[in-house]
Amino acid sequence: MDSQEINVVLHENRTFPPSKEFQDQAHIAGMDAYRELHKKSIEDPDTFWAEAADELHWFKKWDQVMDDSEKPFYKWFTGGKTNLCYNCVDRHLDGPNRNKAAIIWEGEPGDSRVLTYYDLHREICKFANGLKSLGIKKGDRVAIYLPMIPELAMALLACARIGAVHSVVFAGFSADSIKDRILDMDAKWVITGDGAWRRGKPLHLKPIVDEAIEGLNCVEKVVVVQRDDGDTFDCDMKEGRDVDYHELVKDQSKECPAEELDSEDMLFLLYTSGTTGKPKGIMHTQGGYMVYTYLTAKYIFDLKPEDVYFCTADIGWITGHSYLVYGPLANAATCVMYEGAPNYPDNGRFWAIVEKYGATIFYTAPTAIRAFMKWGDQWPESYDLSSLRLLGTVGEPINPEAWMWYHEKIGSEKCPIVDTWWQTETGGVMLTPLPGVTSTKPGSATLPFFGVDAAVVNEAGEEKQAGLLTIRKPWPAITRGVYGDPERFKDTYWCNWDGKYYFPGDGAKIDEDGYFWVLGRVDDVVNVSGHRIGTAELESVYVEHPTVAESAVVGIKHEIKGQGLASFVTLREGIEGSDELKKELDELVAKKIGKFAKPEKIIFTIDLPKTRSGKIMRRLLRDIAEGRALGNVTTLADPSIVESLKGQYSED
Ligand code: WT7
Repeated sequence: MDSQEINVVLHENRTFPPSKEFQDQAHIAGMDAYRELHKKSIEDPDTFWAEAADELHWFKKWDQVMDDSEKPFYKWFTGGKTNLCYNCVDRHLDGPNRNKAAIIWEGEPGDSRVLTYYDLHREICKFANGLKSLGIKKGDRVAIYLPMIPELAMALLACARIGAVHSVVFAGFSADSIKDRILDMDAKWVITGDGAWRRGKPLHLKPIVDEAIEGLNCVEKVVVVQRDDGDTFDCDMKEGRDVDYHELVKDQSKECPAEELDSEDMLFLLYTSGTTGKPKGIMHTQGGYMVYTYLTAKYIFDLKPEDVYFCTADIGWITGHSYLVYGPLANAATCVMYEGAPNYPDNGRFWAIVEKYGATIFYTAPTAIRAFMKWGDQWPESYDLSSLRLLGTVGEPINPEAWMWYHEKIGSEKCPIVDTWWQTETGGVMLTPLPGVTSTKPGSATLPFFGVDAAVVNEAGEEKQAGLLTIRKPWPAITRGVYGDPERFKDTYWCNWDGKYYFPGDGAKIDEDGYFWVLGRVDDVVNVSGHRIGTAELESVYVEHPTVAESAVVGIKHEIKGQGLASFVTLREGIEGSDELKKELDELVAKKIGKFAKPEKIIFTIDLPKTRSGKIMRRLLRDIAEGRALGNVTTLADPSIVESLKGQYSED
């Protein structure tokens, strides 16, 4: 992180207290209430979390709230028996929520479906029975590659119900990425769909899955959900392997008892990028993840029975898992789920959805907000957004300008904004305002949630005004590790401070009010439109190309995406860079990872700036790519390379 950024946030001193009206009705109101409860949660976490867990259903109570006997592999609610699907659905069937809308789904063409809790229960049970009939049982890994249709949410819940481990692969990933993940998790089953609508065009998914599993012996069955009745999405079905979802569930019983699972039974795997070329399967378990997503959703979104909660995240990412499916449903909320693009048929689509369903809570990403700003105020102004009472953001630091726009144009200056900092590994939100408590400051994720002992420290672990963000106590939804690679979990997250504190990989600053300002990653992970991409992943893709000798990929500032990628590529002796070659490299990245990982720029270079010990100076490459003045380059093995790169970059 550079000192410029620290200065910017230091000068942001506007504050926005919650309105009296909001406070009066909030679950948690006023700073005193927050401080008292936060103190209790840190000093006596066992009591705090036991009380939270008590709000949910357990077939058998836990013996121990937190077990730290195998640090840093913490376990929660050990000995307890529960089921997250049961808590998200069955728990709401006796009483006023039975016929309440659980999921309001809007398709991109404008079709819509409403599933009440009763409907959801029936559909999940049939789905779960169908999965069981295919031989899927507790502990089996199931890969899911589905678009944003209700069956995606149901697939997660059906797996959770029978104790199968789901692993959703975001529907923007390529066949190669799906294949790598299937191999890593050793999945015998894949649930996919024939397609979805995206910007008015059909997006065919099944052929991508066919390509991914071609020649893979481990995959036995592929369940295919049809998006539409017509023949738009027709796809090949492989005899003996592919199963039509509708046929599978048609005659299944609408009762399927929820499996009584151990609190520590695995719930899901979600792959995310790190500093090496290989994505990691982040593990989460039933009990701790359930309690944490339930409580965070309740307090941060201040969920009330009459709320209509619209989260724009795709279920392919952690936000969709925790705050479109599990957290809100555990609270019996009504969730709006949208299939398509925010700018189809025009730039006002999200606002049309807010108006149509009377959404009261809206949760999105800074990259989307910056796009809305660019599209112009006329879009939100043409819709009735008066139903909104609370806004949220997640995915990357939000620039104060975008925050102010969100506050004024979407929130009419009355809705609190919760800027929520967290990550795939934390399972749920860690730093956030509470809407009835916290005076917000544009660009700050403000204060730790209950049970979160956050600090900004230096390498020696001493508290500092700016430095590394760390969490000094385990919390229920902390990842249980990297699938199949316990050492990687220790090396990545517990490598500093004698393995006592968790290190998320972000840099942060803390201000005079104790507010946290997350400044971004300090490792080689880049956040493009809120999607995490490891630069090492792209680098290993490039070197697979026969013309490429070496490459270095860095994150650069991007007006809409927050960060984009710049790729510096050294070609083999005698090979000339060309636009065609750039295109080929872009296509390779699209094939190996997915189109969303395409860099903004590819720069061919005869060499990369390296230290005398041979380490690539990424900081210098970032400076060049962002046009900053360069500091001391005398540690470089060959300082002249920098000048030549600078010249090339500005010409390009
Ligand atoms: C990384 C995690 C959490 C769901 C979406 C991304 C960055 C996330 C914020 C925020 C500043 C943020 C961090 C984090 N990040 N939210 N409110 N302010 N930075 O999940 O793919 O696991 O990425 O996103 O850098 O480490 P993810």
